[in-house]
Amino acid sequence: MPETKSFHMSPEEFRRQGHAVVDWIADYQKRIETFPVLSQVQPGEIRSKVPSDAPEEGEAFEKILGDIDRIILPGITHWQSPNFFAYFPANASGPAILGDLLSSGLGVQGMLWSTSPACTELETRVLDWLVPALGLPNNFLSTGKGGGVIQDTASNATLVALLAARERATKFASNKQGCTGRLIAYCSTQTHSSMEKAAKIAGIGSDNLRHIEVDENFAMRPEALSRQIEADAAAGLLPFMVCATVGTTSSLAIDPTLEIARVCRDNHIWLHVDAAMSGTAALCPEFRFVHDGVEFADSYCFNPHKWMFTNFDCNCFYVADRRHLIETLTVLPEYLRNRATESGAVIDYRDWHIPLGRRFRALKLWFVLRHYGLEGLRHHIREHVRLAQEFASWVRGDRRFEIAAPCRLNLICFRMRASDSVNHRLMENLNRSGDLFLTHTKLDGKFTLRLCVGQTNTQAQHVERAWQRIQEGAAKLGIS
Ligand SMILES: Cc1ncc(COP(=O)(O)O)c(C=O)c1O
Repeated sequence: MPETKSFHMSPEEFRRQGHAVVDWIADYQKRIETFPVLSQVQPGEIRSKVPSDAPEEGEAFEKILGDIDRIILPGITHWQSPNFFAYFPANASGPAILGDLLSSGLGVQGMLWSTSPACTELETRVLDWLVPALGLPNNFLSTGKGGGVIQDTASNATLVALLAARERATKFASNKQGCTGRLIAYCSTQTHSSMEKAAKIAGIGSDNLRHIEVDENFAMRPEALSRQIEADAAAGLLPFMVCATVGTTSSLAIDPTLEIARVCRDNHIWLHVDAAMSGTAALCPEFRFVHDGVEFADSYCFNPHKWMFTNFDCNCFYVADRRHLIETLTVLPEYLRNRATESGAVIDYRDWHIPLGRRFRALKLWFVLRHYGLEGLRHHIREHVRLAQEFASWVRGDRRFEIAAPCRLNLICFRMRASDSVNHRLMENLNRSGDLFLTHTKLDGKFTLRLCVGQTNTQAQHVERAWQRIQEGAAKLGIS
């Protein structure tokens, strides 16, 4: 029999090249501090190194892998560097990378329970594990009326919450007839922009999203929320959803969920709590204040892909009553019908999010939880918070600088007692040096630097060196 022509990679070659790729990643981890944290390339530089046409003939894998060093690495901002203090982290870890690799290897598409029961059932189990681990309310457990699901991002979790809230408020009429323009949603002036995007996508309209004022700690004022809801209701509008944030993007401000929940309950409004980064802190009982009041939320999410050592993308989204979510998103074309779905005995996660298809993301989360154990996770979270608090004490002790917002966890907002442009120059100089990477926000109208300690491998020496560089940078700018 003549051999069938094939261009595929054989299992034996896959084994060989796979080892080479794992070696490459391990070497990358070892040498990561030799690269400038922020990529220093100019726009178009990487694209110009990639041929304008796809290759007609296949190339040797060694050559392809070699181009990772030659072409790709210069254009990488090293999110996994321990000197990465920017934005919020998107941290990764060995077990998460390997779990993700296995997910790719299995190549499962878990849209229905029946398209891979393990993909669904492991996800349900792992999300249930996290409920007591984070001190979340029992009504989020799948064994009751609620349940959790992995979404790609907090942005999509917020969108899904908004859709379910919209349908609960309109008794599923907006799903059928579209929105009437009467629905009003609420968040604070500090809420992540994904809420505005969700309002646009969901047909609510950004004009119908009210940005409630915040207090001196940048947390939502519940009394202002209550007043606005009253005014909207009096005007014949339909207040239907509030998004509270525990750990805002700018300054990690904690909205008073408990008081906001009271306002929501009195007005029959859906409460969504966004704990994208800070949720992970609740693994430690002493930081569980972030979840005060979450027991009254209709939905909640946090991102293991930010601070829980789980590669992007992984957002855990919970609802207290899954019926609204499922009824909002379910559609069942003939080609997806199957006996397990019809039996009602299984979860089909396709009804819990926007896309139909889904990756086996629970594997990486499972690996992380089993590798570290809750004890290991708590250790590293505590250490990050300790280092951030130490950094804050150095800032307080230097009269050239000031702290710009309360810092209870791992984000420090600070600035030099100087103009916005001087602070901006300090940040640009630091980032251009490649030694560290931090980003900024505006608080009280002033340019503010943010230093977030949350990268997997950040240790005391990295935070100490960052502070040294910041001090040197201030001196170079003539700030005394
Ligand atoms: C509080 C908050 N919510 C939502 C998001 C959006 O996260 P994602 O990239 O998962 O959509 C962020 C991102 O930093 C955030 O800080």
